[in-house]
Amino acid sequence: MKMLNIALPKGRLGEKAYGMFECAGYPCPSIKENNRKLIFENEAAGVRYFWVKPSDVAIYVERGAADLGIVGKDILLEYAPDVYELLDLGMGKCRMAVAAKKSFHDDRRRALIVATKFTNIASRYYAQQGRDIDIIHLNGSIELAPILSLSDVIVDIVETGTTLKENDLEEKETIVPISARLIANKSSYKFQNEAIGHIVKSMAQQLEEQA
Ligand code: PRP
Repeated sequence: MKMLNIALPKGRLGEKAYGMFECAGYPCPSIKENNRKLIFENEAAGVRYFWVKPSDVAIYVERGAADLGIVGKDILLEYAPDVYELLDLGMGKCRMAVAAKKSFHDDRRRALIVATKFTNIASRYYAQQGRDIDIIHLNGSIELAPILSLSDVIVDIVETGTTLKENDLEEKETIVPISARLIANKSSYKFQNEAIGHIVKSMAQQLEEQA
């Protein structure tokens, strides 16, 4: 039997997703040991899990280092990896939004300065609106940009809204809802169809039972 390789995003979302794989018949108890190891294997169950930086999961799956992975829809929209999106897990729910200082008013006569980690999502969104923008790519702490007048607005993930609130920013527009997705490598999907199909079915059932 071929081992199934599963890339989990490091953190709470990954731990929750692991629980769903476990329920689907792919347990790996050693994963719960509190250490710095990145790979955990249960040979008897035919599964190997690895903890990956959330934004890297799709790369492992696209290139076949992982057969399956759990990734945010934000990453799928931003990088459009060549993978199959199999299931919306309904967890890790948040949204991609435009935020700015409360006092901000758009002057459409000039380009809007947008700071974001998600340049493709932002560019596409404003292109659809025919709005001319000047984009600034940042790697984190995006909320600083409008406060320091580096940008007019930001395009970023909003979950509870606390980060915006605590930095005196306000959500102006919602771009798209985001949640965690189960993705598969395209060739694994073909050649390990039985195992993957079983997992998808079980996870869909688990979600139904939760609802
Ligand atoms: C994300 C996002 C916001 C924050 C939103 O950052 O970029 O800063 O979460 O969450 P909230 O609405 O519940 O406050 P993350 O913690 O993922 O770190 P990052 O700055 O590296 O993106």
